[in-house]
Amino acid sequence: METAARVRWQNLRNMALEAQIKSSDLTGTFGSLTKTLRMFLQSAILALGAYLVLQGEVTAGAMIAASIMLGRALAPVEQTIAQWPLILRARYGWLGLAEFLGRVPDAEDRTKLPRPRAILEVRGLTVVPPSGAHPTLKLDGFDLAEGQALGVVGQSASGKTTLARVLTGIWPPVAGTIRLDGASIDQFGEDLGLHVGYLPQEVSLFEATVAENIARLSEKPNATAVVAAAKKAGAHEMILELADGYDTVVAGENGKLSGGQKQRIGLARAMYGNPVLLILDEPNASLDAPGSVALNRAIKEFKEDGNAIIIMAHRPSGIAECDLLMIMQDGMRKAFGPRDEVLRAKVQNHENITENLNAEVKS
Ligand SMILES: Nc1ncnc2c1ncn2[C@@H]1O[C@H](COP(=O)(O)OP(=O)(O)O)[C@@H](O)[C@H]1O
Ligand SMILES: [Mg+2]
Repeated sequence: METAARVRWQNLRNMALEAQIKSSDLTGTFGSLTKTLRMFLQSAILALGAYLVLQGEVTAGAMIAASIMLGRALAPVEQTIAQWPLILRARYGWLGLAEFLGRVPDAEDRTKLPRPRAILEVRGLTVVPPSGAHPTLKLDGFDLAEGQALGVVGQSASGKTTLARVLTGIWPPVAGTIRLDGASIDQFGEDLGLHVGYLPQEVSLFEATVAENIARLSEKPNATAVVAAAKKAGAHEMILELADGYDTVVAGENGKLSGGQKQRIGLARAMYGNPVLLILDEPNASLDAPGSVALNRAIKEFKEDGNAIIIMAHRPSGIAECDLLMIMQDGMRKAFGPRDEVLRAKVQNHENITENLNAEVKS
């Protein structure tokens, strides 16, 4: 790629240089035009002054004063023209910020609700991504009770991540309701993060220690809670093996950690603070076999504590602990029900996407 990348960079640079030359030509032209205009005006006002002095209408002092005042009056105009690029940049910055902030509504202060039970009720959901124009998810709905795990499977771009984002309140749905123990999730305000743990498909860690990352950047991480979360996520031993254990600083770009390590720290972060609902977006994507076993044990224990869990899975080993299964296709629900029933029905219909799922679950 080296030559191609260099040529590409060179071309872009040439374009930038050309644009720069054009713009400095333009500002130069305007600059000299205004200078000429100012000279002309100043000469004209001196000439007018001299004429009036000769006529005896004003004094010579007034003539000089008028010339000076004109110079002062024109200075701001000249400066504005010289600083025009800066003014334009400020305007674009302002517009960009306004558009960006406009996409995220202000958080309202909410009456604090008690810790909900793990009862999720989803009805008539339609989701349009913030930057998109078409719905990428349309679901009639589903219910999830305490102690249940739901597996969501489907090919790439079938809407699994979209579902995860809407359930965590990151993307507000354009239609439909999501209720957690009777309250729609926006009623929890910022507390929603305490009750719903989320492991994104691509985990990004912050430039802080492992403990601070697990504690979601809170100022004084509660060590007991951090270790408890890591143990639940099956990440405790892995973290102890890092150079500084829990105090290892995760450098920018997460340099030192492997994909699987990041994912396990991400899982601990999702489990921090005992959420009642856990949403895992492809949690096993970069885990090896022992990692998957640890993950499935973590899911099992989480369920047994009376919590609910939703697992988006691309690879079949992810749904081993699921009671319910939803199959997604093109942003819609293709099948839903108890896992084994769904798998059996699909195999009878000779639909291959679940055949290997079934084989792996059985094994
Ligand atoms: N931020 C976004 N803006 C617009 N469209 C998006 C965005 N994120 C995802 N999509 C679209 O939504 C569809 C579903 O994507 P996604 O939910 O990520 O699928 P999956 O997780 O099942 O692979 C895809 O067609 C994708 O192009
Ligand atoms: Mg996805």
